[in-house]
Amino acid sequence: MKPKKSVITRRPIVVGNWKMHRTASDTRDLLQDIGTRVSRIANMDLVACPPFTSLPAASDALGRHGILALGAQNMHQNKEGAFTGEISGSMLREFGVRYVILGHSERRQLFNETDALVAAKAITAVDYHLRPIVCVGESLTQRQEKQTEAVIESQVRASLAGFPADQIEELVVAYEPIWAIGTGKVATPHQANTVHHQIRVLLTQQFGSKGADVRVIYGGSVKPDNATALMSEPDIDGALVGGASLDAKAFFDIIESARTLRAS
Ligand code: PGA
Repeated sequence: MKPKKSVITRRPIVVGNWKMHRTASDTRDLLQDIGTRVSRIANMDLVACPPFTSLPAASDALGRHGILALGAQNMHQNKEGAFTGEISGSMLREFGVRYVILGHSERRQLFNETDALVAAKAITAVDYHLRPIVCVGESLTQRQEKQTEAVIESQVRASLAGFPADQIEELVVAYEPIWAIGTGKVATPHQANTVHHQIRVLLTQQFGSKGADVRVIYGGSVKPDNATALMSEPDIDGALVGGASLDAKAFFDIIESARTLRAS
């Protein structure tokens, strides 16, 4: 099967979200292990997002493994100021951070982050040349009540309100159904692709034809044994991996699934 043009534009990307796991010294060990495994990988983007306190150690370790980029799990929407406990874009840039996860469902649910806040953060992120990975996804109740499409539409529109169209190639959108995160319950490839396709249509409506080339990645219990099926879907451009990204071999196997598919 011939790849569509947009598939070539959409370079595969696999992101590891370490959440609140690994101290700085553990970070060095894990990145060393991942870095060795991925050293021959090319033509895709690989990102590790350790906790803030591990970023300096990660930055040192990654200097030796060029293919892996560094990401953060959150940032503040203001450039500086009296915001106790917060981290700014320039602080992230100082350690070579290139990506930032924004609006993860855990931030939305546990820390009351709203779509408007996520939108403000995404705009600040690109000001700092950080690539935002904006997360959206429905809860189990919303899916059961057949609200998925409406929830996704309103999250995508509002979380990207005011996002500069001339920076659209910097954006990555992650579809993470909340009921699949950390539960072992993965969306079927068809369920995931249906939502990815909807997101691509919404991005095109909001940003014009370049919106179709935004990478849309799936997250929620991605494991080596389900990654190939998910990533063979036409609108899935990679994965946002939580638990399995803390295991170097599992993370590498997921990366291989994404790489092999796009190479064929
Ligand atoms: P999981 O987490 O892979 O452990 O389900 C994904 C995420 O929350 O980004």
